[in-house]
Amino acid sequence: MNTRIIPISNPEKQEAELRYAAKILCAGGLVAFPTETVYGLGGNGLDDGAAKKIYAAKGRPSDNPLIIHIAAPEDADRYAVVNNTYRRLAKAFMPGPLTVVLPKREMIPPSVTGGLDTVAVRCPSHPVAHKLIALAGVPIAAPSANLSGKPSPTCAEHVIADLSGRVDAILDGGSCEIGLESTIVKVDGEDEITLLRPGGITYDALCMVVSTVHIAPAVTHALAENERPLSPGMKYRHYAPNIPVVLLSGAPEKVTAFLAAEQTTKKCAILCYNEELPFLQNDLLFPVGNREDLAAQAQTLFKLLREADRTGAEVIYAHLPPKSGLGLALYNRMIRAAAHTIKEI
Ligand code: TXA
Ligand code: MG
Repeated sequence: MNTRIIPISNPEKQEAELRYAAKILCAGGLVAFPTETVYGLGGNGLDDGAAKKIYAAKGRPSDNPLIIHIAAPEDADRYAVVNNTYRRLAKAFMPGPLTVVLPKREMIPPSVTGGLDTVAVRCPSHPVAHKLIALAGVPIAAPSANLSGKPSPTCAEHVIADLSGRVDAILDGGSCEIGLESTIVKVDGEDEITLLRPGGITYDALCMVVSTVHIAPAVTHALAENERPLSPGMKYRHYAPNIPVVLLSGAPEKVTAFLAAEQTTKKCAILCYNEELPFLQNDLLFPVGNREDLAAQAQTLFKLLREADRTGAEVIYAHLPPKSGLGLALYNRMIRAAAHTIKEI
């Protein structure tokens, strides 16, 4: 398949390009597009055949359901059974990096939801995503636009590397602002939700809007042997570089000294803080940002994991993120990338 790469720098002025992409979607084809979180691989969310093509293009197990993307928060009502908790979350956080799991309506095919009776709904704020969905006039089913098991793509180059030849078109809208996938919550009842995947909308922000916010155990821990995952995505190894990742925890100066010593004995790629640069040899270093700047770290994490994975190093070292604020989303992605390998220094 010949994949068309279409640069979109100004969605207002490039309606013709976006109409062309929307037409591909309506005809059952696949289009990758930028969102404020990561790039998505879109297909018509009402079309069973398009969903099957998405699973095939990504090499993704078909029991891992897709998020449907809508142009306006109110549109959720057409595809899912909404309640007041949804309306309050939508008012506070949509359009934006929040996905809400709700009971699904009949018209969403089982292939989209992996056979579940719930559907995940998200209204992205990125202008290209918004316009594409609005022009298509259907909900757009879209997982992250990476090959299954790779880090999510945060720029068009990542999508091209993974999916060129497997999709009809890729809209290049530059780098994603947040860099980590959306926060996912499941509505349990009135005023009660469970956080399934932390992201740009933090636990504290959710607590401002909903009285009871549970955190699914798999957000911070490995699933126990017989534990049933609350979200199918939890059972798959995600964001996994081919080189083993080891997370370091401990007093900052001790961790930096450990890294400096390791550099003298083995080939290691290091996702370091900017503050550590003067103390480390300038070899295979991937600065993630300042220690306290979690937003900068979120934005660069997936890109740096891809780059570190190409170094041929023996090991990739990274810091164990804090669990507070946006740190919880970083923590959740990093423990998966590291297959839960944490070294206390
Ligand atoms: O930011 C994002 O959410 C991006 C952009 C493209 O919107 N999308 C994304 O999709 O990250 P994906 O498919 O890579 O991750 C969706 C996650 C999966 O772990 C899946 O298991 C979970 O959402 N999910 C989808 N539908 C669900 C449902 N009905 N119940 C529970 N979990 C669900
Ligand atoms: Mg994904």
